[in-house]
Amino acid sequence: MKIAFCCTDTRPEPWLQGLSAALPQADIQVWQPGMAPFDYAVVWAPPQQFIDEQPGLRALFNIGAGVDGLLKLRLPPGLAVVRLEDAGMSVQMAEYVCHALIRHFREFDAYEASARQGQWSFRKPRSRADFPVGIMGLGVLGRRVAQAVAQFGFPVNGWSRAPRALDGVQTYSGPQGLQDFLAASRVLVNLLPLTPDTENILNHDTLGRLQPGGYLINVARGAHLVDADLLALLDAGQLAGATLDVFRTEPLPAQHPFWQHPKITVTPHTSARTLRGETIAQVAGKIARLARQEPITGVVDVARGY
Ligand code: NAP
Ligand code: GLV
Repeated sequence: MKIAFCCTDTRPEPWLQGLSAALPQADIQVWQPGMAPFDYAVVWAPPQQFIDEQPGLRALFNIGAGVDGLLKLRLPPGLAVVRLEDAGMSVQMAEYVCHALIRHFREFDAYEASARQGQWSFRKPRSRADFPVGIMGLGVLGRRVAQAVAQFGFPVNGWSRAPRALDGVQTYSGPQGLQDFLAASRVLVNLLPLTPDTENILNHDTLGRLQPGGYLINVARGAHLVDADLLALLDAGQLAGATLDVFRTEPLPAQHPFWQHPKITVTPHTSARTLRGETIAQVAGKIARLARQEPITGVVDVARGY
């Protein structure tokens, strides 16, 4: 079996070594234009030329959870697009979101500012009951985050496309459930895939429906958020702050107002990194199953967009 490796901005050697060790019978090569047909491909942000030159692929393995970039390409009808399912990401996402949430809730920024001035000063304890957390997206990552947030005793709401039941989480679904979900939440965590239905979903109207003193944690995609609407709500005092890991343009341009805004914390798309070992184990396991004509999970519904 022949496997192409076509991942932009990724050093190929350790991936080739790892994939070869996991699939010793496979011939794995870094794709170059003009190469003969491959059976499977391991990709991140491949060029359209790769897709056009490899119309006979049996499956395309994305080494990330989000496939929005891949689905912008012209793909042959029927090609199986396979996303990463957790592979060590969900615990990272839970760490990141809990850190941002607790840093805000416990006012650690204010304590750090006091400490820098040599001040021993207390802030009034706040009640978790006043900080209900709403998680948009109850998929592989959203469910793990919901569980971690609930462990800290915060009330948790969740919103998904289809109705979902989750222990300890008040769930809402569909466009008809969105307004109630937002009205019940003060801290909003975005873990939706980027699709035509979810682009710009974090806007003046939706963010403005959060409880007073709302806080946004966006860890999904930059194009979910209307940047100017967030800035307006922060500057009007309607939102208390935001932690942003993802941006419309990445790297975030040097002159973007998010960098210097006193109520915004910026991180460089690092909330849940692709972990090479876990990813290779998952992808190799699925390729082996497909080679044995067995079914696999994680196949994207291209029409739905995730
Ligand atoms: P997933 O398993 O596919 O879950 C997606 C969830 O979103 C599902 O619960 C789905 O609802 C819900 N959803 C989709 N469209 C919706 C809509 N129109 N209205 C309401 N709910 C909708 O995805 P995942 O693995 O959890 O990953 C989520 C996203 O996180 C990825 O797509 C990616 O963009 C982002 N991500 C970011 C990083 C980072 O480092 N910043 C790392 C990894 C992933 P149903 O349950 O009803 O299907
Ligand atoms: C990262 O953003 C991913 O989608 O895996």
